[in-house]
Amino acid sequence: MANPKNSKTPRRERAGLARSYPYYLANRPVAANTDLEVRDKYSGKLATRTAFGDATTIRKAIVAAHRAREPMAEFSPDRRRDVLEHCMRRFEERAEELALALCIEAGKPIGDARGEVTRLIDTFRIAAGEATRIDGEVIELQISERTRGYRGMVKRVPIGVCSFITPFNFPLNLVAHKVAPAIAAGCPFVLKPAAKTPVGALIIGEVLAETDLPKGAFSIVPCSNEDAAALTEDERIALLSFTGGLVGWELKARAGRKKVVLELGGNAACIVDADPGADLDHVVDRIVFGAYYQSGQSCISVQHVLVHRDLYDAVRRRLKAKVAKLRMGDPREEKTFIGPVIDEQAAERIQSWVDAALKGGAKRIAGGPRAGNMLPATLLEKVPRDCDLYRQEVFGPVACLQPFDDFEAALDTVNASDFGLQAGVFTADLGHAMRAWDRLEVGGVIVGDVPSFRVDNMPYGGIKQSGLGREGVRYAIEDMTEQRLLVIKG
Ligand code: SIN
Repeated sequence: MANPKNSKTPRRERAGLARSYPYYLANRPVAANTDLEVRDKYSGKLATRTAFGDATTIRKAIVAAHRAREPMAEFSPDRRRDVLEHCMRRFEERAEELALALCIEAGKPIGDARGEVTRLIDTFRIAAGEATRIDGEVIELQISERTRGYRGMVKRVPIGVCSFITPFNFPLNLVAHKVAPAIAAGCPFVLKPAAKTPVGALIIGEVLAETDLPKGAFSIVPCSNEDAAALTEDERIALLSFTGGLVGWELKARAGRKKVVLELGGNAACIVDADPGADLDHVVDRIVFGAYYQSGQSCISVQHVLVHRDLYDAVRRRLKAKVAKLRMGDPREEKTFIGPVIDEQAAERIQSWVDAALKGGAKRIAGGPRAGNMLPATLLEKVPRDCDLYRQEVFGPVACLQPFDDFEAALDTVNASDFGLQAGVFTADLGHAMRAWDRLEVGGVIVGDVPSFRVDNMPYGGIKQSGLGREGVRYAIEDMTEQRLLVIKG
């Protein structure tokens, strides 16, 4: 299935980033230009350049994908699985190169970067398994005299061309969550990766180009948002899957008849009940991880910590001590926990929200001034509920601590958010765990851990402003396929 002449290990697979990267148009690398500069997010230096597409490139990609609908639908499930397994093997071989690419282009600490590569491989592995399990069902139609002798069967067929738009914070795994299910489902696709972090997606493209996917099955094209308009508006596209900010709702409004899946972030809360059901040091370690890993640039990062008043001082003390010890610095260094946020503009926004909260009466427990796009881990309490830091998605290394007296009231506080992606609950009380599951207005409740927990085969997505639909391979495949009924008389 893989073309051996294409899968020799180039030198850069061991050395780091290439000098430039092509984009992929209808499965083929196109080094049309090197117009997109990719900066090392820690040093700010130019790290590499990639080809940058325009509206014409996107149109050509859509035409090619549209032509590939039938060949992709007829590309049998075992061959789709083989393609996905080939990708897994190649990602394993290129794991350190991929981790380093994330470290450079996203400023992701190397430990987190390696973790993301492991998840990339998991996501393709899950999709390889699902590719041969897209089953249908037999339906009993004989429900009255009129319908005697009729049989019904349903199978799932690929929905058609998919367009994907992915964010900067997981340049590999959030791409994988769209690409791998599309291949498993038999859908051709056009992907626009984040312009700040296109390299991960382009290496995935390089690996896909080694396979025998039908011509036109995939295009991966960094381009401007304006030039990507057709990915939202073109009627030949059957499904748009977008992960990113609240602009996703505007895309949905322009998407016409296509199906739309949106993953738009959150401001996740974690409740620590009077008896949290675990050693307090462990609970605090998990909260520190959930709030500050990859500088809080995750949609399920812990933004609000609600602690039962009996434990408030003890949790506050431990959090303060542990946050102060987090090592900030060069993401390439193994011991670094806090690297840069994606750019200075983001750092300025986050800092301005922190400053406004402090001005409004919040108290700083940990944190300090930013230097460029390096923001220290910050913990505040008494944060006014009407400020941006409380209400919006911070997407940075900042958490807000507050006490509660009554578990039901804590649930109400979580539900007062405009977002609803995931929530975490530490409790020893099974009744409270079930109440949280019943009452919390979120896509997922994580009992015994932080909301930042995710396994790549679980349904993942939110309600309210957080989005629409679910990812998690099998759930994405459901969206990328449609039921087709067969009725037979006699
Ligand atoms: C996200 O930021 O939505 C992705 C979080 C994850 O996959 O862990």
